[in-house]
Amino acid sequence: MTKLSVNINKIATLRNSRGGNTPDLVQVAVDIQEFGAQGITIHPRPDERHIKYKDAFNLKPIITTEYNIEGNPIKNFIDLVLAVKPTQVTLVPDAIDAITSNAGWDTIKHLNFLTEVIAEFKRNDIRTSIFIDPNLSLIEATPKTGADRIELYTENFASQYAMGNKKAIEPYIESAALANSLGLGINAGHDLSLDNIKFFAENIPNLLEVSIGHALIAESLYLGLENVINMYLHKLQ
Ligand code: PXP
Repeated sequence: MTKLSVNINKIATLRNSRGGNTPDLVQVAVDIQEFGAQGITIHPRPDERHIKYKDAFNLKPIITTEYNIEGNPIKNFIDLVLAVKPTQVTLVPDAIDAITSNAGWDTIKHLNFLTEVIAEFKRNDIRTSIFIDPNLSLIEATPKTGADRIELYTENFASQYAMGNKKAIEPYIESAALANSLGLGINAGHDLSLDNIKFFAENIPNLLEVSIGHALIAESLYLGLENVINMYLHKLQ
C-alpha cells in the first residue's frame, strides 16, 4: 500500500501571512494524522518563508506516523535534520530562490557530494531519498550514493496528464521497474492531485509513498468552503 505523506508547507505560508499562530501548524499535523494520513512532510527553506526551522523541532514530538524532511542539503539543513532525526530525509537540489522544486538530482555529476551527505544521515539512522527525474541513467547511478529510495519528480507527468497525455506515465513506469530491480524504494511527489493520483499509483509498482501539498490544500479549501460558508450564515441568522 502507498503511504500518503501530507506536505504542510502551505499551512505555514498561511500562518506566516498574519504573523500569529493561526492556523496552528502543530495542531494541523496532529489532525492530519488523526484523519488517516501516514506521514507529514515539511520543506524548510533557507529564507524560512513557510516552514521555520523551529517548526521542524516543534513537530517532532507529535508525529506518530512518518516524518519526512525535504530540502537542499546545505549546512544549516543538514544540521537541522541531524538534530531533529526524522524518519526520512529527501534531498532536493532546489535553488535558494526557486518558488518550488523544479528539477531532480544529477546523480552522476553530484555522486561524490551525495554519497558523503547520505553517509552522514545513514550513520544517524535516518532513511534517505533522492528527488530525481524519471531518467534511467540517473537512476542507474543512484545506488552508488547509498540512498535507500528515490522520489520521482512527477511534475511532467502531472502537466501532461492534465492535457490528456496518458503516455506521460511511461518513463515513470520504466524508472520504477529499474529502481525496483536495483533495490531502491520508490516515493513520488510534485503536482500530484485528486485528478491524477489514482492513475499514477495504479501504474507504478511498489510505490511506497507519495508526498502531496499544494493540490491537497487547494482541494481541501474548495471542499471545505461550502460547509464553512453555511456555518457563518447559520451564526448570522
Ligand atoms: N516533493 C518535493 C521534493 C517538493 O519540493 C514538493 C513541494 O514542496 C513536493 C514533493 C510536493 O509537491 P506539491 O506541493 O506540488 O504536492
